[in-house]
Amino acid sequence: MVHLVTTLRPETAAALSLTGIGWRVGGRTVLEDIDLAVRDGELLAVIGPNGAGKTSLFNLVTGLTRSSAGRIELHGRDVTTLPAHRRVRHGLGRTFQTSSVLPGMTVAQNAELAAQAAISGPYGSLKPWSRIGARARATAAEALERTRLSADATRRAGSLSHGGKRKLELAILLAGQASRPQQILLLDEPMAGMAVEEVPELTALIREIHASGATILMVEHHMEVVLGLAERIAVLHHGALLACDVPSLITENPTVREAYLGEPL
Ligand SMILES: Nc1ncnc2c1ncn2[C@@H]1O[C@H](COP(=O)(O)OP(=O)(O)O)[C@@H](O)[C@H]1O
Ligand SMILES: [Mg+2]
Repeated sequence: MVHLVTTLRPETAAALSLTGIGWRVGGRTVLEDIDLAVRDGELLAVIGPNGAGKTSLFNLVTGLTRSSAGRIELHGRDVTTLPAHRRVRHGLGRTFQTSSVLPGMTVAQNAELAAQAAISGPYGSLKPWSRIGARARATAAEALERTRLSADATRRAGSLSHGGKRKLELAILLAGQASRPQQILLLDEPMAGMAVEEVPELTALIREIHASGATILMVEHHMEVVLGLAERIAVLHHGALLACDVPSLITENPTVREAYLGEPL
């Protein structure tokens, strides 16, 4: 008997694919049986009430925590058991829900450290500030330019406004991923704690980063931001994926509306 083996990858492979992902911790199930595929170049927003499991999902994808069940693939490669620093090599980067800049260093140094760490690798980056090279400086300068922070390059990062710090987090992410061709960027509540007037600029920045080719998975509570940016929206509720569809169908979805119990969508 002749067996024909056909391979349909890689043009159909998703940038990020989760199959049957579950996470149990301390005797409770935080995430259960999540199936989600993010297309290459897509901007997908994850919404859901506090405690739904959004940040936990990001932690599993980046490798900060290990899933209890299921499979995680980046561009068709199984990374389920890879540590976080190995997943970064596949273009995966993230920002955190709470600000994570180094406040005592300048804006430029924050971006340069990220760029040099990416160039030096996980072990060479133990003391990257001792030898920031020309390439890292150039990469960092470009990241600051893209996030409109060039004029603030010599300021202490801690002196930036909240919105400025959020832009710097994006710059750090871009500087760290600059050399990777297929970026998958995870943004955990990029608008959290921002002044209303700072929201449009950051929204525009995320749109530009997406337009430059990056795949983006974004947790966000501001629905106007989500509806303005996302190509599809995934809804997490009590650790389960309720729905994943284009924005117009999500806002009309009765199950989603019921889960939010009258909360505006
Ligand atoms: N390390 C942990 N140990 C125990 N419970 C956790 C841990 N991390 C998160 N949780 C719980 O998992 C649930 C989901 O948390 P989280 O992913 O932070 O939600 P979200 O980001 O959607 O607000 C919460 O009830 C939280 O208390
Ligand atoms: Mg969260």
